[in-house]
Amino acid sequence: MSSIDLTVKIGSVELKNPVLLASGTVGYGNEIAEFIDLSKIGGIVTKSISLNPRKGNQPQRIIETPSGMLNAIGLANVGIDVFIEDKIPFLKELKTTLICNIAASSIEEYEKCVEILDSEETIKAFEINVSCPNVKEGGLIFGNDVNAVGRITAKVRAKTNKPIIIKLSPNNSNIVDYAEIVKKEGGDAISAINTLIGTSFNIYSKKPNIKNITGGLSGPAIKPVALAKVLEISKKVDIPIIGIGGIMNWKDAVEFIIVGATAVQLGTVNFINPKAGIEIIDGLEKYCEETSTNKISDLIASRII
Ligand SMILES: Cc1cc2nc3c(=O)[nH]c(=O)nc-3n(C[C@H](O)[C@H](O)[C@H](O)COP(=O)(O)O)c2cc1C
Repeated sequence: MSSIDLTVKIGSVELKNPVLLASGTVGYGNEIAEFIDLSKIGGIVTKSISLNPRKGNQPQRIIETPSGMLNAIGLANVGIDVFIEDKIPFLKELKTTLICNIAASSIEEYEKCVEILDSEETIKAFEINVSCPNVKEGGLIFGNDVNAVGRITAKVRAKTNKPIIIKLSPNNSNIVDYAEIVKKEGGDAISAINTLIGTSFNIYSKKPNIKNITGGLSGPAIKPVALAKVLEISKKVDIPIIGIGGIMNWKDAVEFIIVGATAVQLGTVNFINPKAGIEIIDGLEKYCEETSTNKISDLIASRII
């Protein structure tokens, strides 16, 4: 039994370790549960939920790219009623922290979703997706408007006492402005980053490989960008950051923590190795032992820059 303290805090919620599974890559937990012992994971973030069910975009919605993948799922999800009836009972049994990710096409829809879900005890925090690049309404329209992000934060803050995490887009000019307004309006943490806009074409058909033409790039290809965004925010804004983008192994996770992330999320790697979460937690523990770090939280922003 290791004596390393892996716990970290996001607002009022304590995670048993800093490794979370990212929204959209583990469904509602059930899809990955047979491959990994979810009770060992710091937490899972559900696929974005909207007030009504969404079919998402037409296929082809996913394509592999060098060192990553493009997706244009378009926030396909079961909607809030089915989520409560069919998905929460399973999630309730998992011995891990549940963070519910919400997407919406209007500020009122974000408010309504949080209002309805607030009474679900299983949900310990909300992650508000203001940064999906693959939908026509909502998504990036909000994610690229700093005042809209501020208004969304204030409105959802008023509906719940649970931690509010705002998931930011890397597809804007100055992510620090967004982090600042989230803090000012009462947000508890930032998730950074969502996917980067990209595309891919077939050179013979001369058509896009993704029906939506553009998609969100994720995976190792985006790690340096994500690290730079986390570093930028952590230097300027005193708010917990959940680092996301291209984390494949424990070393990647350490990098995010030393540039300022309190916790990390794993996305694309879950499709390659569903057990990656547990391997990364083990790796973090060993790294702490090797470096005589008693508490993982001591590593946060331990860089010398
Ligand atoms: C197939 C797929 C679906 C995704 N769906 C969502 C989603 O519904 N909501 C959301 O906030 N992020 C979504 N994301 C973004 C991830 O949560 C994460 O921010 C991104 O993939 C970067 O992390 P990674 O490089 O580790 O994959 C999705 C990513 C992928 C690959």
